[in-house]
Amino acid sequence: MTAGRAARPRHYLMCRPSHFTVDYSINPWMDPAKPTDTGLAVAQWKQLHALFLELGHTVELLDPLPGLPDMVFAANGATVVDGRALVARFRHPQRTGEAAAYLDWFRAHGYPVVRQASFSNEGEGDYLVVGERILAGTGFRTDRRAHAEAAEVLGRPVVTLELVDPRYYHLDTALAVLSETEIMYYPAAFSAASRTVLRQLYPDAVLAGAEDAVVFGLNAVSDGRHVVLPEAAVRLADTLRGRGFVPIGVDVTELLKAGGSVKCCTLELRD
Ligand code: ARG
Repeated sequence: MTAGRAARPRHYLMCRPSHFTVDYSINPWMDPAKPTDTGLAVAQWKQLHALFLELGHTVELLDPLPGLPDMVFAANGATVVDGRALVARFRHPQRTGEAAAYLDWFRAHGYPVVRQASFSNEGEGDYLVVGERILAGTGFRTDRRAHAEAAEVLGRPVVTLELVDPRYYHLDTALAVLSETEIMYYPAAFSAASRTVLRQLYPDAVLAGAEDAVVFGLNAVSDGRHVVLPEAAVRLADTLRGRGFVPIGVDVTELLKAGGSVKCCTLELRD
């Protein structure tokens, strides 16, 4: 049944959570009063990293920096399309220091275009590439004006989607790309107008329910065949199986204390 879906090997950038903690709150999931376990975060992250390698993907590593506990969420660092790296401009001062590390990394690795966004732009947290099109989130982090800039720099049409639920503050917490033409999403995270746009563009999308969204089931990474997602998103995994995908559940619950999961840890390098 699953023979039809082909995986395409990917190139990812990740950052080990060596300095992970929750000592500020910039989204509703973060509670600095709740204890975190950096060792556990590292162990969970290592399993995710090992899984990507097992699946045949190539993973580059960015050096984690002390004092930047959210740096594990590499997806937020940039959006990379055709070797063009549009580096983030973080909305919150607690994370602005991360951008320099991405600028340095892309320059050191010879990317032909490396540019920092002029407006608030949280990279693949809010920009998801689906085939030739880029879906872009706004409402909490990435500025609407950054969408036009992304279209200009990355050379692909950008579709603006408005997020309305503060728990789903980045596009990648409410929507995931499954293949060049397929997505899954949680409709309640979007404004009525954006839900209409999504229905028109993707009439056959997988729709997730609240119970899968709340465990960050939409924060998933697909290679076209395998869909790596939080193991608690069991209904979503069943639906994906029914569509011919191979869902693989992982435990990254320690990172969820900061409001991030599988996709947040994974920046795709489209060289
Ligand atoms: N604590 C981080 C923040 O609020 C979590 C980022 C999660 N990343 C993501 N791609 N959704 O910025």
